[in-house]
Amino acid sequence: MGDKHQVPEVKSPATIESGAAYSWPEAPILIGSRVKRVDGPDKVQGKAKYSYDVNRPGMLYGRILRSPYAHARIVSIDFSAAKRAPGVRATLAILEPGQRAMYQGDEVAALAATTEELAADALRLVRVKYEVLPHLATIAQAMDPIAPPIFEGGNVRRGNAEEEGDLEAGFAAAAHTVEQSYSTQVETHQSLETHGCVCEWEDGKLTAWASTQAVHGTREGFAKALEIPQSNVRVITQYMGGGFGSKFGPDVQGITCAKLAKQADAAVKLMLDRKEEQLAVGNRPSAFANIKAGVTADGALTAFDAETWGTGGAGRGAGFPLPYIYQFPNRRRVHADVYTNAGPQRAMRAPGHPQGCFITELLMDELADQIQMDPVEFRLKNLPPKAPNAMWADYFPKAAQRFGWSKRHPTGDSTPGPIKTGFGCAANRWGGGGRGSQARCEIHPDGGVVMRCGTQDIGTGIRTIVQMITAETLGIPFEAVIPEIGDSVYPFSGGSGGSTTSPSVSPAIRITAEKARAEFADRLASALGVDATNVVVRDGRVLIGEDTSKTMSWKEACRRLGTELVSVDGKWERGLSSSGSSGVQLAEVEVDIETGVTKVKRITIVQDCGLVLDPLTAESQVYGGVIMGVGFALYENRIMDRNTGQMVNPNMEWYLLPGMSDVPEIDITVVSQPERGVIGLGEPPTIATAAAIGNAVANATGVRVRSLPITPDKVLESLDQLF
Ligand code: MOS
Repeated sequence: MGDKHQVPEVKSPATIESGAAYSWPEAPILIGSRVKRVDGPDKVQGKAKYSYDVNRPGMLYGRILRSPYAHARIVSIDFSAAKRAPGVRATLAILEPGQRAMYQGDEVAALAATTEELAADALRLVRVKYEVLPHLATIAQAMDPIAPPIFEGGNVRRGNAEEEGDLEAGFAAAAHTVEQSYSTQVETHQSLETHGCVCEWEDGKLTAWASTQAVHGTREGFAKALEIPQSNVRVITQYMGGGFGSKFGPDVQGITCAKLAKQADAAVKLMLDRKEEQLAVGNRPSAFANIKAGVTADGALTAFDAETWGTGGAGRGAGFPLPYIYQFPNRRRVHADVYTNAGPQRAMRAPGHPQGCFITELLMDELADQIQMDPVEFRLKNLPPKAPNAMWADYFPKAAQRFGWSKRHPTGDSTPGPIKTGFGCAANRWGGGGRGSQARCEIHPDGGVVMRCGTQDIGTGIRTIVQMITAETLGIPFEAVIPEIGDSVYPFSGGSGGSTTSPSVSPAIRITAEKARAEFADRLASALGVDATNVVVRDGRVLIGEDTSKTMSWKEACRRLGTELVSVDGKWERGLSSSGSSGVQLAEVEVDIETGVTKVKRITIVQDCGLVLDPLTAESQVYGGVIMGVGFALYENRIMDRNTGQMVNPNMEWYLLPGMSDVPEIDITVVSQPERGVIGLGEPPTIATAAAIGNAVANATGVRVRSLPITPDKVLESLDQLF
C-alpha cells in the first residue's frame, strides 16, 4: 500500500455468487440493527488510548527539522551545538549533503530529547547550510514555458490522449455546446489525530504504537526500511484519529522515530504538529479542466473534448476520472501532471472522484441549462448503459421525492431580497469490496469468546462490526464477545483504504465464527455423547438433543469443554462480499448576493453499500463524508505563495474547515442490498457533495462559480459579470 495505494474501479460485478460455502443469516438479530459503537463511551470519556496518549517509561520526544525553503540543496548539517544542548539523546540526518529538499517542510534532520520543549530548543541549534534553489510553488510557475527544469523527466508530464468515437461528428450533431474551464483546489487531509508514533526497542525487536490505517502494512514498512525481519516488528493501533488515505505506512517520521529510539536506547514519541500535517503528509491534488461539450436539443450528450491538468506537488501525479459517470459517445481527453515544489499528494478519501465529479456535474448542469431541461431529468437521460449494479436511475427519483426537488426554480432565484435559494444534484460511484482478511476465534472454558483480527478501526466502527458478527454467528449475546483488533500480532488483515475494511473483514469474521461454532458443537457433543447436529446455541442458551429439550447456559456448556479451549482460524472467502456502489446527493443552498456567503441548508443523500451491517455506523460514515464535502465545496484550500514557495495558511486558523454551524441538515438513506453482500461505505458519501453544492449555488444566483472552493469573493466576482 503506502504511496502505491491504488484506487479500485467499479467492476460492475453481478450479485455475489450463489453456492458459496457460507452465507449471511436470513433473519439476523444483530446484523442490520442499530448497534452503538462499542468504543464510543471510552472515546468520549477520553479513556481510549490513541498513539498520542501512549507514554513509555523513560520515553524521549522526537522532533523533525524541516526545510524552510521550497527547493534547496543541503550543503552541510552540523549537530555539534544541538548535541551539547540539555536533554538531547539522539540526532539524525535525514538528508545528506548534496541531496535536495523538494518542498517547504521536506524532512532534513531529527533529534530526540527528554522533553518536547528541550527537543524544540535543540532543533534550533542544528545548523543546516542550504543552497537555495529556484522553486515552482504554483501551477502557473511550473507550467510557464521558461520555468527552470526542476523535476527530472520534466515539470509537466502530458499523457497520451484518451479517445473514443468521432469528435467532429459529435460536435456536428450538437445543437448546443458549452466551452468552459473548471477547477478544484488542493485540499489537505486534516486528520483529527496527527501522524506519528511511539517506538520502543527490546532485544532487537521494535514495537511501534502508530497512528496508521494499516498495522500489517506499517509493520512491513518498518521492517523494510530498518532491514530487520517483519517478525521482529509489532505495530499497535488501538485507536486512531482518522487518516483518510494519508496513513498507510511508517512514513519518514515513523522510520525516524524508530532510528532515534534505537540510537538513544529509549522509547521515543514522535507526533507531528498541525503545521507539519499541512506541509508534508499528503493532500488531495488539484484538478483543472478546459472542456468543450455538446448536447442535442432533446438532451443527448454528443461530444466531450477536454484538456486537464493538476498538481500532486513534488513528484506525484494528479489523476482523476473524467468525464465522471455520464458517457459521451465521442470524446477526447488529454491530461498533464504538473509537478510543483509543494507537499506531495496522497490518496485522499475517494482519490480523484470528488474532482472528476465536480467538473463533470457542473458541466452537466450547464448543458441542461442550454436546453432548459431539468437537471435530474437530463441525468436520467444520460446514464451509462453498462453499469449493472449502479442504481442512479432509482436513486435520483427517490432522492428527488424526499428532497422536494419539484420545487426547484429555473437557474437564477427571482425572489426579491439578497438571499437566493437554489437546488443542485450530483451522483457518485465507487468500487469498494475487499478480500484477504484472516481471523482467529477462541472460546474459553470460562465462557469467554475472543475474536482477533489484525485490522484497525480508523474511526469507522469495525471493532463494533467484529463483535456483532461474532455474537450473531455463535448465537450468544453481543456483550459476551471481546473483539481484539489493531495489532500486527493478530491474524493478517489489509490496510483500511478504498472502503475495503468491512468487505474484507466481515466475511473473515463470519466464516471464522461459523467454524468456531461447528468446533464448539463437535466438542460439546462428544463430551455429552450426543450428535453434533443436536447442539444449537440460541440467545446465549445451549439447546441439546433432537427435540432441544435439554438446555444449559453458555457458561456451563463451555465448562464441559474441559481445559482445552476452542481455537479456530478462518479467512475471507468469496460469497459474502462484492464491490461497486452508487449514490446521489441533492443540495439546497442559500447564497447572500450582497456578501457572497454561501450557506448549505440541506443535503439529501441516497447511497448503497450492499448489505448494511450496522445502519448507525453506516450513517455516521455518511455524515462524515458529507461534512468533508462541505469543506471541499466552500472552505478548504492550500494556498501557496509564489514568491517564497511557502504555504501561507498552514494552520487551522486560515485553512478553513467546516464548523458546527456550517453543517447542513443531512437526510440519509442508506439503501440495503443484502443480496450483494458487504461492499463498504467510507469513501462514496464524500464524492458528490461539492458538486451538488456547486450546482445549487448556480441555481440560486444565476451565475456559476466553476472553481472550488466557492468563496464569497468568487461569488461576488461572478455576480459582477452579470451587470
Ligand atoms: Mo483511502 S483514500 O482509500 O483511505
